[in-house]
Amino acid sequence: MKWILLFMVALGLGLAAASTSSSYSFYRLPTAVRPQKYHLKILTHLDNPEELRFAGTVRILVEALQNTKNITLHSKNLTIDESQITLRQISGEEKKDNCVSSTEVNQDHDFYVLNTCQELLAGNVYELSLPFAAELNKQLEGYYRSSYKDTDTNKTRWLSITQFEPASARAAFPCFDEPGYKAPFVVTLGFHKQYTGLSNMPAKETKPHESLADYIWVEFDESVPMSTYLVAYSVNDFANKPSTLPNSPLFRTWARPNAIDQCNYAAEFGPKVLQYYEQFFGIKFPLPKIDQIAIPDFNAGAMENWGLVTYREIALLFSPEHTSLADKQRLANVVAHELAHQWFGNLVTMKWWTDLWLNEGFATYIASLGVENINPEWRSLEQDSLSNLLTIFRKDALESSHPISRPIEVVSDIAESFDQISYQNGSSVLRMMHMFLGEESFRAGLQSYLQMYSYKNAEQDNLWESLTQAAHKFRALPKSYDIKSIMDSWTLQTGYPVINVTRDYGGKSAKLSQERYLLNTQISREHRGGCWWVPLSYTTQGEQDFNNTAPKAWMECGKTGESLSKTIQDLPGADQWVIFNTQLSTLYKVNYDSHNWKLLIETLTEGDFERIHVINRAQLIDDALYLAWTGEQDYEIAMRLIEYLQREREYLPWKSAFENLKRVSRILRQTPEFEFFKRYIKKLVTPIYLHLNGLNDTFSGIQQQDQILLKTMVANWACQYQVADCVPLALQYYRNWRSEADPDEKNPVPLNLRNTVYCTSIKYGTDADWEFLWTRYKKSNVAAEKRTILTSLGCSREVWVLQRYLEMAYDPNQAIRKQDSMWAFQAIAFNEVGFLLAKKYFMDNVNFLYKFYYPITKDMGRLLTPFSEQVFTQSDFNEFRNFVLLSRDSLKGLEQAIQQTLETMLTNVQWKERNYHQMSRSIQKLL
Ligand SMILES: *[C@@H]1O[C@H](CO)[C@@H](O)[C@H](O)[C@H]1NC(C)=O
Ligand SMILES: *[C@@H]1O[C@H](CO)[C@@H](O)[C@H](O)[C@H]1NC(C)=O
Ligand SMILES: *[C@@H]1O[C@H](CO)[C@@H](O)[C@H](O)[C@H]1NC(C)=O
Ligand SMILES: *[C@@H]1O[C@H](CO)[C@@H](O)[C@H](O)[C@H]1NC(C)=O
Ligand SMILES: *[C@@H]1O[C@H](CO)[C@@H](O)[C@H](O)[C@H]1NC(C)=O
Ligand SMILES: *[C@@H]1O[C@H](CO)[C@@H](O)[C@H](O)[C@H]1NC(C)=O
Ligand SMILES: [Zn+2]
Repeated sequence: MKWILLFMVALGLGLAAASTSSSYSFYRLPTAVRPQKYHLKILTHLDNPEELRFAGTVRILVEALQNTKNITLHSKNLTIDESQITLRQISGEEKKDNCVSSTEVNQDHDFYVLNTCQELLAGNVYELSLPFAAELNKQLEGYYRSSYKDTDTNKTRWLSITQFEPASARAAFPCFDEPGYKAPFVVTLGFHKQYTGLSNMPAKETKPHESLADYIWVEFDESVPMSTYLVAYSVNDFANKPSTLPNSPLFRTWARPNAIDQCNYAAEFGPKVLQYYEQFFGIKFPLPKIDQIAIPDFNAGAMENWGLVTYREIALLFSPEHTSLADKQRLANVVAHELAHQWFGNLVTMKWWTDLWLNEGFATYIASLGVENINPEWRSLEQDSLSNLLTIFRKDALESSHPISRPIEVVSDIAESFDQISYQNGSSVLRMMHMFLGEESFRAGLQSYLQMYSYKNAEQDNLWESLTQAAHKFRALPKSYDIKSIMDSWTLQTGYPVINVTRDYGGKSAKLSQERYLLNTQISREHRGGCWWVPLSYTTQGEQDFNNTAPKAWMECGKTGESLSKTIQDLPGADQWVIFNTQLSTLYKVNYDSHNWKLLIETLTEGDFERIHVINRAQLIDDALYLAWTGEQDYEIAMRLIEYLQREREYLPWKSAFENLKRVSRILRQTPEFEFFKRYIKKLVTPIYLHLNGLNDTFSGIQQQDQILLKTMVANWACQYQVADCVPLALQYYRNWRSEADPDEKNPVPLNLRNTVYCTSIKYGTDADWEFLWTRYKKSNVAAEKRTILTSLGCSREVWVLQRYLEMAYDPNQAIRKQDSMWAFQAIAFNEVGFLLAKKYFMDNVNFLYKFYYPITKDMGRLLTPFSEQVFTQSDFNEFRNFVLLSRDSLKGLEQAIQQTLETMLTNVQWKERNYHQMSRSIQKLL
């Protein structure tokens, strides 16, 4: 694996050369001063579309902690009139005017350095006032513009909104833009009186503007101390729906007026989950109000600004006629995530971005608990848990992955950290602790952590300490163990282990050993290494107790971090299987000896398989297929095991199987032996398809909600593989829709099958079918429906249609918003016909795409996923690697995504060479 190393060195040099100009070149702010309070006053101009801009003044009370001759803060692309800067001392022996003698800009770190006329003295407080101005940009971060079409008048309506996390507050006003500098904010917004102004806190006072006719100033209450990335404000003409619960803060949900009827669900759900958290954490929500607002142009999913939470429309707006159950669950999950941040993130904030997972991992995990509490009938906690684990099993099996807690030095690293490792892996390790500590000590530990660090910043060691104390108090952990030793092995180390379980059937014992699990099989044993503290839970065929997730033993690490093997006694004999890791509480794979696999296959295919916990059934499928992929188990074992799916009627095992089979299919469908795989999939899927009544609209008869998700997923596979009546029924639904007099009002396609029906109809349909759907896209008022359509339009098999669609996706004059282009691109690139087109488009236009996404370059990384999954020959891999090396300048900020793409491609190449024929043969045996 040399090339990866070479590649990293090359990129590293490029960065180093660009960054040595100023005398102070460290990437963090100097610590000689700190902000005590901000007064932020901003005038926003929305009247002239040619000149959307803002201008303001920030008055910062700055405390000197050491004597210093400069104040260094962040500012990015703001126009600052230096002659208007003032500085004076406001505390200390004698009050006196100071001033700023000169300024410097450090572009590399966005520093704005103010050299002071007189030295600032430790202990004194100064008032610094800076004017600033800029345009409301189109780049979806900082203080930016968004718009929507007023359907009554056909006029474009403009609004302004902020997106500061991680490092764009500096693009909106000069500030100390690091999460550790918390301070209260007093925000005052000026705007034309036809608009509403919103900020973190409630409005306090409104005054007419001193000179501009019809403009007003609205001053908001002083906020609690908070980090700059949580400041938010907006000027808009939105409508709102209040939904305040008794004895709770004012709660409002905002949207453009023609979408206000889509706010009901979020308005109802939000306050409920907020109340649940107040009780779960034992801490009241500290602000007098909370607003949630749907922004038409929005890059992330949502943003947890304290008291003013912003969302993409699809993550907040719900339409009973257009939003599928899967989308509704996602929506609830995003709202729950952002509201969980009001505690984890806003109240207690990570000290530095290294511990971003403390924000994101927590919000992700706590959101799952919140949604489960409010909608237990969804069984979404199990779904989320498994889905996170499935994602991380893949991501973290790459050598180019990174630890959960990760050193951060440049701004683009921060952005890249908002990835699945921080969110899903962070969440998975929290779930693991929850399960091995138990409810009482987990909750007590979290509560004391939150209380201790409220309005402050914390590092992961602080959390470990609170949890260790609680764990010992409630006897959830032996006194000789502490959380830090255990958890550091999960958060400071990249990857996760595979545990070999080798049973001694005569001696009724098993020997366990661990090493890092990697997809790249060319990495030698010595380079895998690693040791994880693993709580060992297990059950046997005789016992079948999957409820107990408390560890029966621990896999420990030695003093120097070396892994130690572990022997488990008192196991049954050769007639009974064992399963480790009940409910998949911990992130590891298990490789059994072949006799144990054989026993498991017997129970699954012939026995009482439903007594194995549903998550463990999903685990067995995932483990068997992974171990076969990397050659540590035979494909025959894996394929024989998943044969049992013909009996399976639950969502989670199918989800696990499809996730794995999808990967294989994306390679196989480009090879001569695909026909066997097709027949095999048909054989597996037909029973469940018939069991769920295929595409027939029998949803109203479904009792268990997750069967709806199962039906959605199965329908999708069934039509792709032309199972039974799937394709003709899909086409029939579509024809019925097309013959409606008003298809925008009336849609006979069952809500939860629209993905499949649209995609199948575009695949087998005519140009007119495509045009029909595109017209629906343009006319739709519901974000969820728009996304379904956008994805389905990529299902065409016509090269010219796909090529045209690619170009439309990146044409600003078309109806697709910038943040949504990715959906179209991915749909085309995952389509077997579109793949090569999309790859060529990407390579030919990489520079254009870079500029299109700039400065949120990380988004461009998502375009790479389809390539990573479909390239599987050495020559295509070489071609892509050379392309990447030549296009380095257009791929800045995507270093991590590129490494992972290349490594994934390489593992595909290895798989094709090593396993392709073996897998194909074992499938043919089963046909
Ligand atoms: C500003 O002051 C700090 C602390 O005194 C110092 O470390 C830093 O080098 C100064 N910055 C510049 C650009 O001189
Ligand atoms: C900086 O701001 C100006 C106008 O305020 C804008 O035209 C320009 O595109 C911005 N540059 C960057 C790199 O954002
Ligand atoms: C708005 O524009 C559309 C198409 O451009 C047109 O059909 C419609 O009549 C217009 N509506 C109003 C109220 O002007
Ligand atoms: C686990 O078993 C596999 C296959 O038998 C072997 O390649 C691997 O080295 C073993 N790992 C450990 C940690 O014993
Ligand atoms: C496990 O828990 C479930 C749900 O709480 C319960 O129905 C089942 O009986 C329990 N099983 C055992 C073996 O305790
Ligand atoms: C769907 O319904 C039709 C008509 O009732 C029936 O013939 C067909 O078998 C059903 N399909 C499935 C998969 O249940
Ligand atoms: Zn988050």
